Amino acid sequence: MAGIEKVLITGGCGFIGANLVRYLLDRTQWSLRVLDDLRAGKRAHLEDGMADIVVGDASVHETARSALQGVDAVVHLAAQTGVLPSLEDPERDFWGNAGATFSILESCRRMGVEHLVFASSGAALGDAESPLHENMVPRPLSPYGAGKLAGEAYCCAYAASFGMHTVALRFANVYGPFSRHKPNAVPLFIARALGGEPLEIYGDGSQTRDFIYVEDLCEGIYRALTAEDVAGEVFQLGTGVETSVRRLADTVHDALGGTEVVFKPARSGEVRRSRVDVSKARSMLSFEASVELREGVERTARWFRSSS
Ligand SMILES: NC(=O)c1ccc[n+]([C@@H]2O[C@H](COP(=O)([O-])OP(=O)(O)OC[C@H]3O[C@@H](n4cnc5c(N)ncnc54)[C@H](O)[C@@H]3O)[C@@H](O)[C@H]2O)c1
Repeated sequence: MAGIEKVLITGGCGFIGANLVRYLLDRTQWSLRVLDDLRAGKRAHLEDGMADIVVGDASVHETARSALQGVDAVVHLAAQTGVLPSLEDPERDFWGNAGATFSILESCRRMGVEHLVFASSGAALGDAESPLHENMVPRPLSPYGAGKLAGEAYCCAYAASFGMHTVALRFANVYGPFSRHKPNAVPLFIARALGGEPLEIYGDGSQTRDFIYVEDLCEGIYRALTAEDVAGEVFQLGTGVETSVRRLADTVHDALGGTEVVFKPARSGEVRRSRVDVSKARSMLSFEASVELREGVERTARWFRSSS
């Protein structure tokens, strides 16, 4: 999109946000503002001068509106993340997900900010059969997934009703630097391997995921923000590659050196297989992930070592 000068990144002090800020500073001339209430992210994830940082809650309309002053486009990452917290406290999840997304969208409408990319998740689809694609009927299994689906629905409705350029991106399993606080397989394995502890696999390790390196994901976000003719669309963003948790553990083991793998009882309700069909993002956004798992694991491990 022509004419972007200033972009607001909600949740910009979190894992994906800290990477996106760096990606956009490298790739564009845009000036960046971050809105983050620091419930999970850290101010220290950003260096001085990278972005104006507004500390506040995106679900509070006044805060959202003041953060949107002078902004041309928004990447809305701020959310209560994770399925488990949403099961423990669905009401908190509602305000942290659906509520925050509504607040940002409605504030954009009132302030005349037309471009918004929304971070959705494969959780909106529920336990659908892989490969996951955009034509499937979403059946979220958790309040977290329901909140993401509600966000997608509002993005679609605000595009149709108010002519906003909204795009919802369903991220696959993202990994990379600045993820020490995330309870996900890649950072947990890397932290344990670097600490000389065994890698723990729940079940036999044959469960699969689509692991996307965060820099590839940032490229997808950038493309969604700047593409023409995608208002109201939903895209799956992943690699299209199905990787078993066992293979991930072996990759971490090979890349970082000797640590054993131990098997624990399988967790109930866990999705067995997950892989994304990226053909829509490929054809409409010219998106293609390019970082191989081994390379991404090594880059992530370098960050873990340098930041410990
Ligand atoms: N990491 C993944 O694999 C993954 C997969 C699918 C979707 N997503 C989505 O991507 C987005 C970013 O995820 P992440 O992994 O970087 O998580 P994260 O927790 O590291 O980052 C989220 C950031 O948002 C901030 N935040 C949360 N609620 C806020 C609010 N109401 N107001 C202001 N700031 C708030 C947190 O402090 C944090 O810095 C989230 O919307 C998440 O649901 C992530």
